Amino acid sequence: MDRYCVMGNPVEHSKSPWIHARFAQLTGQQLEYTKRLVPLGGFAAAVAEFRAQGGKGCNVTVPFKFESPAIATRLTPRAQLAQASNTLKFDGDDVLGDNTDGIGLVNDVLRNAGVDIAAHDILLVGAGGAAAGVLAPLIEAGPRRIVVANRTASKAVDLIARHTSLAAGRGVELTASDLDSTGHGFDIVINATATSMAGASVPVNGAVLKPGALACDLMYGPLSQGFLAWAAEHGATGRDGLGMLVEQAAEAFFLWRGVRPPAAPVLAELRASLA
Ligand code: ATR
Repeated sequence: MDRYCVMGNPVEHSKSPWIHARFAQLTGQQLEYTKRLVPLGGFAAAVAEFRAQGGKGCNVTVPFKFESPAIATRLTPRAQLAQASNTLKFDGDDVLGDNTDGIGLVNDVLRNAGVDIAAHDILLVGAGGAAAGVLAPLIEAGPRRIVVANRTASKAVDLIARHTSLAAGRGVELTASDLDSTGHGFDIVINATATSMAGASVPVNGAVLKPGALACDLMYGPLSQGFLAWAAEHGATGRDGLGMLVEQAAEAFFLWRGVRPPAAPVLAELRASLA
């Protein structure tokens, strides 16, 4: 049976084995998907060991996503732009590194939230690893404009700099900002800062939200509650990161198996099981 896993530290909480097991059942694919706790500093060795054991691919989570590109022999353009990879596919000597986080977010917004991105205005708050992971697919979805706002504005400037030609090619206006001069009235606001993790308040003014806007957090569960409450307070529709989690997994499953699993029913089951 083909073997896959998720590598991380910590990894105990990971929902990926459950999600991939459901995808496999629903698509009639035979595979095993486990979680592997990898010691800090031991990521390359863990990947080598898993490949030697016949592993076909793995997901990579905290804190190894940024080490993952160095292991790959080839990177997808979106993993290159993210400078991080959450999905590896092994084929003989070839190790393909992809990043499915951003397309996971885009597909969750389009398919599960039912909100258009094309011709809309997006505010991406944060310029760390999480923001870098989603920016290229957001650009490719063809919004009118994306503002990347960060506490340390220079990091937002650096992040957009490497996406400038992609944005120009798609006709997307891409700018960087600090947290106070973002402008107002965005259709979609995405919180990719670590504030939810730290229990800190949302670092932008509620006026960034157009009435009825979609406000997405990349976290889910209790960590996203503060952000969802902020969104509701300002007349927006809040959305946590659970749909992105399932959709990024669906994209990894497709990369590995060539079969697209049904993400929406799996998301509904996962949400019900966590309620
Ligand atoms: P991750 O991989 O989760 O993105 P990271 O790369 O450390 O983690 O990035 C954390 C992001 O959250 C950054 O954009 C950070 O802003 P700075 O670049 O200015 O550090 C942002 N962040 C963390 N705590 C924040 C806070 N209290 N207010 C605003 N932004 C915060």
